[in-house]
Amino acid sequence: MTQIGSGHAPGDAPSDAPSEAPSEARGHAPGSVTDRAHIVVVGNEKGGSGKSTTTVHLIAGLLHAGFRVGCIDLDVGQETLSRFMENRRRAREAGDTALKMPEPATLSISTDDSIAAANADNQAAVDAAVARLNATNDFIVIDTPGSANALSRYGHSLADTLITPLNDSFVDLDLLAAINPDTLDVVRPSRYAEMVWEQKKARAIRDGGSIDWVVMRNRLGSLESRNNRAVEAAIGSLARRIGFRIAQGFRERVIFRELFLKGLTLLDLKSSRSAGRLNMSHVAARQEVRMLLRAIGLVEN
Ligand SMILES: Nc1ncnc2c1ncn2[C@@H]1O[C@H](COP(=O)(O)OP(=O)(O)OP(=O)(O)O)[C@@H](O)[C@H]1O
Ligand SMILES: [Mg+2]
Repeated sequence: MTQIGSGHAPGDAPSDAPSEAPSEARGHAPGSVTDRAHIVVVGNEKGGSGKSTTTVHLIAGLLHAGFRVGCIDLDVGQETLSRFMENRRRAREAGDTALKMPEPATLSISTDDSIAAANADNQAAVDAAVARLNATNDFIVIDTPGSANALSRYGHSLADTLITPLNDSFVDLDLLAAINPDTLDVVRPSRYAEMVWEQKKARAIRDGGSIDWVVMRNRLGSLESRNNRAVEAAIGSLARRIGFRIAQGFRERVIFRELFLKGLTLLDLKSSRSAGRLNMSHVAARQEVRMLLRAIGLVEN
């Protein structure tokens, strides 16, 4: 099995971890030679929470910051990231030569009847993909499916940074922990939070590395409501209880979804001939992506 080195990730967030991002950046200097790529996994076992949207914007944000980026699609059922990459390749071939490209990995998924053998084959395939991408990239960004499976669990254990997008509601929050509806106290961590905890242990045992877990709110409404504030308070208390940091997320904006079929993100708009002009919402959305990269500590500015 490929050994993943200890890398550049910050330490595990302790239970009393601050919910603010630390001020120092933890990314590499663009183009610098480092011992290995920083692995960012985007995960949440709730479907439709914005994982793939966050993944493609992180990839574009890192590319535009001058980094070399590899990517792996572990959602082998939907293959959203893979389809985005095909669209992007097509846009480039159609003449958008300035379009920055990440290096995608192709995984061949095991068809072995034995679950144990299939899991072992799939892990080996992921390890081989990481080793390949590691040779030529500063970052490896991994998208995962919206449901639990062994491949996704293993992917989580490879993370230096785990980003969990969360729709801004108590329905999604329930995926992190059961919450007392009257007091908003955490009753118990969810299966997903326990799975992340297990993968933190697996990672520490395998190579002594640690996973920096960051939760970001997604599809925030433009109006502050009592519900928004209640969700914010509940996430803050959860962060301390189950050990993650909170990063500013994305607002609900059409631009976060409308360029998918072109294989583009709003960060590609200026460099892309096939995209339209920037409006105020695009500028604000761009700023949200940059803020996320900064909050996670992946880029300095
Ligand atoms: N901030 C946002 N503003 C507007 N639309 C969004 C935003 N985030 C996500 N969406 C839209 O929500 C839908 C679900 O998002 P996405 O596919 O990224 O979620 P996912 O977590 O990857 O889903 P799955 O679990 O099925 O893989 C998509 O149509 C996407 O375009
Ligand atoms: Mg997805």
